[in-house]
Amino acid sequence: MSAAPRVLFVCLGNICRSPTAEAVVRRRAHDAGVAIEVDSAGTGGGHVGDPPDPRAVAHGARRGYDLSALRARQVTCEDFLEWDALLAMDASNLDALAPLRPGWDRRAVTPQLALDYAPGADAREVPDPYYGGEAGFDLVLDLLEAMSDGLIAAVKAGRGPGAR
Ligand code: 4NP
Repeated sequence: MSAAPRVLFVCLGNICRSPTAEAVVRRRAHDAGVAIEVDSAGTGGGHVGDPPDPRAVAHGARRGYDLSALRARQVTCEDFLEWDALLAMDASNLDALAPLRPGWDRRAVTPQLALDYAPGADAREVPDPYYGGEAGFDLVLDLLEAMSDGLIAAVKAGRGPGAR
Protein backbone atom coordinates (compact mmCIF):
# COMPACT_ATOMS: atom_id res chain seq x y z
CA MET A 1 0.00 0.00 0.00
CA SER A 2 1.57 3.27 -1.09
CA ALA A 3 1.38 6.46 0.98
CA ALA A 4 -1.64 8.71 0.60
CA PRO A 5 -1.15 11.33 -2.13
CA ARG A 6 -0.56 14.81 -0.74
CA VAL A 7 -2.41 17.59 -2.53
CA LEU A 8 -2.08 21.33 -1.84
CA PHE A 9 -4.81 23.60 -3.23
CA VAL A 10 -3.77 27.14 -4.09
CA CYS A 11 -5.68 30.37 -4.72
CA LEU A 12 -4.90 34.04 -4.10
CA GLY A 13 -6.11 34.75 -0.58
CA ASN A 14 -6.62 31.22 0.84
CA ILE A 15 -9.94 32.36 2.27
CA CYS A 16 -12.47 31.40 -0.46
CA ARG A 17 -11.62 28.87 -3.18
CA SER A 18 -8.67 26.81 -1.90
CA PRO A 19 -10.03 26.24 1.63
CA THR A 20 -13.29 25.18 -0.02
CA ALA A 21 -11.34 22.72 -2.20
CA GLU A 22 -9.55 21.40 0.88
CA ALA A 23 -12.79 20.82 2.81
CA VAL A 24 -14.62 19.31 -0.18
CA VAL A 25 -11.88 16.80 -1.00
CA ARG A 26 -11.30 15.96 2.67
CA ARG A 27 -14.93 15.02 3.18
CA ARG A 28 -15.60 13.36 -0.14
CA ALA A 29 -12.38 11.31 -0.02
CA HIS A 30 -13.26 10.23 3.51
CA ASP A 31 -16.78 9.24 2.39
CA ALA A 32 -15.31 7.30 -0.55
CA GLY A 33 -12.80 5.52 1.70
CA VAL A 34 -9.87 6.95 -0.29
CA ALA A 35 -6.82 8.31 1.53
CA ILE A 36 -5.75 11.76 0.30
CA GLU A 37 -3.89 14.33 2.40
CA VAL A 38 -4.99 17.88 1.71
CA ASP A 39 -4.06 21.41 2.67
CA SER A 40 -4.46 24.83 1.08
CA ALA A 41 -2.50 28.05 0.78
CA GLY A 42 -2.59 31.44 -0.94
CA THR A 43 -0.11 33.07 -3.28
CA GLY A 44 -0.79 36.39 -1.52
CA GLY A 45 -0.04 37.24 2.10
CA GLY A 46 -2.91 39.63 2.76
CA HIS A 47 -5.08 37.21 4.74
CA VAL A 48 -2.49 35.07 6.56
CA GLY A 49 -3.98 33.76 9.83
CA ASP A 50 -7.54 34.67 8.83
CA PRO A 51 -10.45 32.21 8.89
CA PRO A 52 -12.18 31.56 5.56
CA ASP A 53 -14.56 34.18 4.20
CA PRO A 54 -17.91 33.82 6.06
CA ARG A 55 -19.69 33.38 2.71
CA ALA A 56 -17.44 30.41 1.85
CA VAL A 57 -18.05 28.94 5.32
CA ALA A 58 -21.83 29.34 5.01
CA HIS A 59 -22.15 27.98 1.47
CA GLY A 60 -19.86 25.08 2.29
CA ALA A 61 -21.83 24.24 5.44
CA ARG A 62 -25.04 24.06 3.41
CA ARG A 63 -23.50 21.15 1.49
CA GLY A 64 -21.99 19.54 4.58
CA TYR A 65 -18.42 20.86 4.33
CA ASP A 66 -16.79 22.28 7.46
CA LEU A 67 -14.37 25.12 6.74
CA SER A 68 -14.61 26.71 10.19
CA ALA A 69 -11.28 25.55 11.65
CA LEU A 70 -9.15 26.46 8.62
CA ARG A 71 -6.74 29.42 8.70
CA ALA A 72 -5.03 31.10 5.78
CA ARG A 73 -1.35 30.67 5.06
CA GLN A 74 0.94 31.66 2.21
CA VAL A 75 2.60 29.23 -0.23
CA THR A 76 6.30 28.61 0.41
CA CYS A 77 9.13 27.21 -1.74
CA GLU A 78 9.11 24.13 0.51
CA ASP A 79 5.55 23.36 -0.56
CA PHE A 80 6.89 22.40 -4.00
CA LEU A 81 8.96 19.65 -2.34
CA GLU A 82 6.53 18.52 0.36
CA TRP A 83 3.40 17.97 -1.76
CA ASP A 84 2.73 15.58 -4.64
CA ALA A 85 0.61 18.18 -6.43
CA LEU A 86 -0.04 21.91 -6.24
CA LEU A 87 -3.47 22.49 -7.77
CA ALA A 88 -4.20 26.13 -8.60
CA MET A 89 -7.64 27.63 -8.99
CA ASP A 90 -6.86 29.91 -11.94
CA ALA A 91 -4.19 30.88 -14.41
CA SER A 92 -3.13 33.95 -12.44
CA ASN A 93 -2.43 31.69 -9.44
CA LEU A 94 -0.25 29.55 -11.73
CA ASP A 95 1.62 32.68 -12.87
CA ALA A 96 2.17 33.74 -9.25
CA LEU A 97 3.49 30.27 -8.33
CA ALA A 98 6.06 30.08 -11.13
CA PRO A 99 8.77 32.27 -9.52
CA LEU A 100 8.42 30.44 -6.18
CA ARG A 101 9.22 27.04 -7.68
CA PRO A 102 12.72 25.83 -6.67
CA GLY A 103 13.61 24.75 -10.18
CA TRP A 104 17.11 23.70 -9.13
CA ASP A 105 15.56 20.79 -7.21
CA ARG A 106 14.47 17.88 -9.41
CA ARG A 107 11.83 16.92 -6.83
CA ALA A 108 9.92 20.22 -7.21
CA VAL A 109 6.43 19.60 -8.55
CA THR A 110 5.02 21.57 -11.46
CA PRO A 111 1.75 23.26 -10.46
CA GLN A 112 -1.33 22.55 -12.55
CA LEU A 113 -4.92 23.75 -12.69
CA ALA A 114 -7.27 22.02 -10.23
CA LEU A 115 -9.89 21.66 -12.96
CA ASP A 116 -7.50 19.45 -14.95
CA TYR A 117 -9.18 16.85 -12.72
CA ALA A 118 -12.65 17.90 -13.94
CA PRO A 119 -12.34 17.48 -17.71
CA GLY A 120 -16.13 17.41 -18.14
CA ALA A 121 -16.68 20.79 -16.43
CA ASP A 122 -17.63 23.86 -18.47
CA ALA A 123 -14.69 25.82 -17.07
CA ARG A 124 -10.93 25.42 -16.93
CA GLU A 125 -10.57 27.86 -14.01
CA VAL A 126 -12.44 28.38 -10.73
CA PRO A 127 -13.57 32.04 -10.84
CA ASP A 128 -12.65 34.29 -7.89
CA PRO A 129 -15.92 34.84 -5.96
CA TYR A 130 -14.51 37.45 -3.54
CA TYR A 131 -15.90 40.62 -5.15
CA GLY A 132 -19.04 38.99 -6.55
CA GLY A 133 -22.38 37.81 -5.22
CA GLU A 134 -23.53 34.71 -3.42
CA ALA A 135 -24.01 32.73 -6.66
CA GLY A 136 -20.26 32.80 -7.18
CA PHE A 137 -19.75 30.70 -4.07
CA ASP A 138 -22.20 28.08 -5.31
CA LEU A 139 -20.39 27.92 -8.65
CA VAL A 140 -17.09 27.43 -6.78
CA LEU A 141 -18.66 24.49 -4.95
CA ASP A 142 -20.11 22.98 -8.14
CA LEU A 143 -16.74 23.10 -9.89
CA LEU A 144 -14.78 21.86 -6.91
CA GLU A 145 -17.13 18.93 -6.30
CA ALA A 146 -16.54 17.87 -9.93
CA MET A 147 -12.78 18.30 -9.44
CA SER A 148 -12.93 16.30 -6.22
CA ASP A 149 -14.72 13.39 -7.86
CA GLY A 150 -12.18 13.36 -10.70
CA LEU A 151 -9.28 13.48 -8.28
CA ILE A 152 -10.70 10.67 -6.14
CA ALA A 153 -11.35 8.53 -9.24
CA ALA A 154 -7.76 9.13 -10.42
CA VAL A 155 -6.33 8.13 -7.05
CA LYS A 156 -8.53 5.02 -6.94
CA ALA A 157 -7.30 4.06 -10.42
CA GLY A 158 -3.66 4.57 -9.44
CA ARG A 159 -3.40 7.65 -11.72
CA GLY A 160 -3.44 10.24 -8.95
CA PRO A 161 -0.78 12.78 -7.95
CA GLY A 162 2.46 11.18 -6.87
CA ALA A 163 1.62 7.81 -8.51
CA ARG A 164 4.64 6.12 -10.02
P1 4NP B 1 -9.53 33.44 -2.86
O1 4NP B 1 -10.39 34.79 -2.95
O2 4NP B 1 -8.27 33.67 -3.67
O3 4NP B 1 -10.43 32.44 -3.47
O4 4NP B 1 -9.26 33.22 -1.39
C1 4NP B 1 -9.86 36.07 -2.66
C2 4NP B 1 -9.72 36.47 -1.36
C3 4NP B 1 -9.24 37.74 -1.08
C4 4NP B 1 -8.92 38.59 -2.11
C5 4NP B 1 -9.06 38.18 -3.42
C6 4NP B 1 -9.53 36.90 -3.69
N1 4NP B 1 -8.46 39.91 -1.83
O5 4NP B 1 -8.23 40.66 -2.79
O6 4NP B 1 -8.31 40.25 -0.65
